[in-house]
Amino acid sequence: MVTGPKDFTVLGIETSCDETAAAVLRGAPGAVPQILSHRLLTQTEEHAPYGGVVPEIAARAHIRHLDRLVSEAMDEAGLGYADLDGIAATAGPGLIGGVIVGLMTAKAIAQAHRKPLIGVNHLEGHALSVRLATPLEFPYLLLLVSGGHCQLLGVEGPGHYKLYGSTIDDAVGEAFDKTAKLLGLGYPGGPAVQAAAESGDDARFKFPLPLKGRPGADFSFSGLKTAVRLQSRKLAVDGKVAPQDIADICASFQRTVGDVIVDRTTNAMKLYEADVSGRPLRLVTAGGVAANTVLRARLEGLCQARGYSFDVPPFEFCTDNGAMIAWAGIERLAKGEADALDIAPRARWPLAG
Ligand code: KG4
Ligand code: ZN
Repeated sequence: MVTGPKDFTVLGIETSCDETAAAVLRGAPGAVPQILSHRLLTQTEEHAPYGGVVPEIAARAHIRHLDRLVSEAMDEAGLGYADLDGIAATAGPGLIGGVIVGLMTAKAIAQAHRKPLIGVNHLEGHALSVRLATPLEFPYLLLLVSGGHCQLLGVEGPGHYKLYGSTIDDAVGEAFDKTAKLLGLGYPGGPAVQAAAESGDDARFKFPLPLKGRPGADFSFSGLKTAVRLQSRKLAVDGKVAPQDIADICASFQRTVGDVIVDRTTNAMKLYEADVSGRPLRLVTAGGVAANTVLRARLEGLCQARGYSFDVPPFEFCTDNGAMIAWAGIERLAKGEADALDIAPRARWPLAG
């Protein structure tokens, strides 16, 4: 790729959940950027015994590893801090201890080297991540499905989002994780449930379809989680559920999640189509759950039926990473935006109202 004079070189730092990540990117909106380095350390093993992310363990792990990962990312990029146009870090939403670690590190680097600081909304990082790999134009409809988030958003451009729906209880990744924990499949649950579902019968159990058929594009997964718990209790012999029953529960659960997502996304598409009338229709799915091949196939079918293009970022950029934070920093720097050094870390930070 040829770099132009308007390219920005940005270090991105991500610490809002259980991934410690740093990446250096060079590029500008309108083209696929160069990923000069991309370092990531996942804390999966440290949280596995608890079946979910423990905030205090996560924050301590970020402190332990972040400085080294940033140095490695800079070395791999072959750059010094003087070569950067900005430092971007997740400023929220997320586990506050982790967010503080990443944002304070970014502030220190920005201040020491007199570089602009960009405090990135983690959700904006996911929302723009598709543009790391494809120069997809705005606007698009985004289905953001991760362990912490489940939203349908209209993306008009950096800083411009419209919320069509979000979960009223659990995020979809959380539903996968809790189902896996319940069935003894380990953590993280999404890949384990998908793998178990491969040898299961997805029509064996009729689980409830939360909010299906209702107007609007909100999600709900807590009833489904309860139904899975009741079903597995019914099937258990001496507290143990047989492998084939587990596979059938996983397959039925996954199909139900697919039904709910297709139903909610269809409603959001109708609202979105009224808003973007006449412009090309595009759906993007991002977040860790976008890795699920069964859900992807369902969404692909929906897009074909309604005349949408369908894009998913490459897997490594679907889950939390530093490259998407650096890229969101580039998109904002290109608009002439940066933040003051006193920007506060935020546990909650909706992208759109
Ligand atoms: O985006 P992400 O890395 O972290 C958050 O910001 O939450 O998403 C992690 C979530 C976890 O809940 C994990 O179980 C889920 O994504 N996940 C999957 C799959 N791979 C990861 N869920 C369903 N199917 C998968 N193949
Ligand atoms: Zn995330």
